[in-house]
Formats: sequence, C-alpha cells, structure tokens
Amino acid sequence: MKALVLAGGRGTRLRPLTNTSAKQLFPVANKPVLFYGLEAIRDAGITDVGMIVGDTAAEIRRVVGDGAQFGLRITYIPQEAPLGLAHCVLIARDYLGDDDFVMYLGDNFLIGGIHDMVQAFGEGDYSAQILLTPVDDPRSYGVAQLNRSGQIVGLAEKPDEPASDLAIVGVYLFTRAVHDAVRAITPSPRGELEITDALQWLIDTGHHVHSHVITGYWKDTGRVQDMLECNRMVLESIETRLAGTVDGRTEITGRVVLEAGAVLEDCVIRGPVVIGADSKITGSYLGPFTSIGAGCTLEDAEIEYSIVMNSSAIRGVARIEASLIGKGVEVMPARRAPNTHQLVIGDHSTVRLRG
Ligand code: DAU
Repeated sequence: MKALVLAGGRGTRLRPLTNTSAKQLFPVANKPVLFYGLEAIRDAGITDVGMIVGDTAAEIRRVVGDGAQFGLRITYIPQEAPLGLAHCVLIARDYLGDDDFVMYLGDNFLIGGIHDMVQAFGEGDYSAQILLTPVDDPRSYGVAQLNRSGQIVGLAEKPDEPASDLAIVGVYLFTRAVHDAVRAITPSPRGELEITDALQWLIDTGHHVHSHVITGYWKDTGRVQDMLECNRMVLESIETRLAGTVDGRTEITGRVVLEAGAVLEDCVIRGPVVIGADSKITGSYLGPFTSIGAGCTLEDAEIEYSIVMNSSAIRGVARIEASLIGKGVEVMPARRAPNTHQLVIGDHSTVRLRG
C-alpha cells in the first residue's frame, strides 16, 4: 500500500495568503495542516508517499524534505497545472504501479487517523472506498447519494442541487482499477479531471465502490472559517507546556503552550493558546483558541480565536477576533489625525474595520 498526497492546486479561497504560500502549509496549532495528514499516513503503516506538487513545490520540498522526519519516503511528482484530482492519479501512474493506495488531499484535516480504514480496505474486496460525512451545505463538495442498503447510486461534484447531505471526504482508497477510470473520463465544465467522475465511471462499469460514513471530525481547510475551526479543535486537546519565560505580572488561565525563547510580560492569557518560539508578547490579552507563530511581537494588543503566522507584529490594537494573519504582517494604529485608516494590503485581501 502506497499513499498519494495532493499538495498542488491554487487555494483561491484563501487568497491573498495563497499568493505567496502553499495552503497545505498553513498552520493549525502552529503545525502545517499537511503534517497531520502525513502523520496519519505513517500511523497507518504506510511508508512510500508520492507527493503531487505545483507552483509551490519549492516551499513544500523545503518544509517536508524527503519525509525522514515523519518516518516516510517521499517522492515528489510535479504537476504542470492544477488539472484536477483525477489528473494527479494519471500523472502518478508510474510511481503507483499496480499497488493499492490511499489518496489524501493535503488540505484535509481528519481526527482519528486512517489506520482502521486502510486495514479494512486491505481485507475487503472493493475497487475503491470513499469516506462520507454529513455537512450543512454540501454544494461546495463532492456529494454521494446512497440507496437504503447504503450502496452508492450516484456521485456529483459540487452540485447546485445536492441529492443528499453526504460530502465526500478527501481521503480515498483505490486499487489499480482507478487507472482505467482516470484515463476514460473527460474534463468537467470547470476544466478539471474530477475524481468524482472517475469513481462514477468505476460504479457504471460494475466495480464495487464501497462507502463509509464517518461521524468524527473532518474539515477541508480551504476557507478562513474552516482554518479557524480546525485550529480551535486542535487547541481543545493541548496540554500546558511552558518552555519560554513568564514574568510575575502575567496571569495565565487554561492550557497554554509557550515554546522555548518566547516571552510573556504583563499579559492576560486565557487558554487554550499556543505561542511559537521566540515570540515576545507584552501588555496584551490573548483569548481562547489563538495560535501565535514563531518570532511574533505583540504589544498592547488584544486577540482571540485567531491565527497569527510567523514573524508578524501587532501593536496597540484592540480587539482582533476571528482573524487569519499571514507571515511578516504588521498591524498597528494610524496616527490620531487625520482620522483615517491607512492600508497597505495585498491583492484579494479581506479587511473588516469598525467605524
Ligand atoms: O475536501 C473534499 C473535497 O475535495 C471533495 O468533497 C471534492 O469532491 C473534491 O473534488 C475536492 O474538492 P476541492 O474543491 O476542495 O479540491 P481542491 O481544489 O481544494 O483540491 C484538494 C487538494 O488537492 C488541495 O490540497 C490541492 C490539491 N490539488 C488540487 C487540484 C485540483 C492538486 O494537487 N492538484 C490539482 O490539480
């Protein structure tokens, strides 16, 4: 059994952050989303991973390397453009050979791992297996329709009128039968070779595609609110670890991780909160479900339910909530007069100002 991890694509829903960075490397509790997936693959007993990379290949290679840090052997497979999930399978044909494989979307976040489903697939007699989960608005996902006995009767990619509330989760198990399927299908109206169409082709040609409905936590981290929710979920289970320095005027309640070299002075911290190495936080309030990256500076700031990436600074600003702040960003008040906002903001940014 091999793994095929998809870490290419464009990430338009997370612009402007994805103009300069790979969305799969965005931090959840200060760890890239992609790392959670790689750890789940390793914990399922798989060591050989093919990793699809696109425009952000250099950044992914720099952070993930050859996979040794995870106990994996990673082979990079460049994709010239994001031509679809089934296109990724097509270009990985030589790497995958005739082996069964798990295809894992690099921006998907799944709690509970994949060990049991990988095991069950090895023992079962299916051509493919998908995971499904009920969602409030299925229109942003692949959607499956099941009959009364739980068999898939139809699949559709991001349908305007979903036939059910069951979204396809971004972890798929395949036998070599999928290679015929991805060669047989044609691009969808959005110009991509859809894995949903490949699965439908398998069903239509008499293959058994098994589905399993999961009830555990799953998120596609493709949107800001999903990133923040994922961050909240992971922070729910952190344990306190204070490797940095906390002065006598700082009040900490709840669980807090403070990495080495980080400093808290005259702060109020209400966990769960994680603060990265060498960050300096002074005279500030950090509320629940906040992750501050490494090398950040916060002075006289208030922030809650937010993610701040490495090397950013927030000074004299209250109060920031539900925000995703990129790397090397500066947030500070404007001069008192004239009473204006002064903005230097990248393309496709979102800024919400009060008054
Ligand atoms: O998250 C689950 C959903 O993922 C499924 O419900 C959908 O059926 C499936 O099509 C997919 O939809 P998305 O629109 O969310 O896929 P996205 O374009 O975000 O790509 C998923 C991952 O695969 C992401 O890490 C980028 C990578 N990718 C994507 C494409 C289209 C590639 O590496 N190459 C590609 O060509």
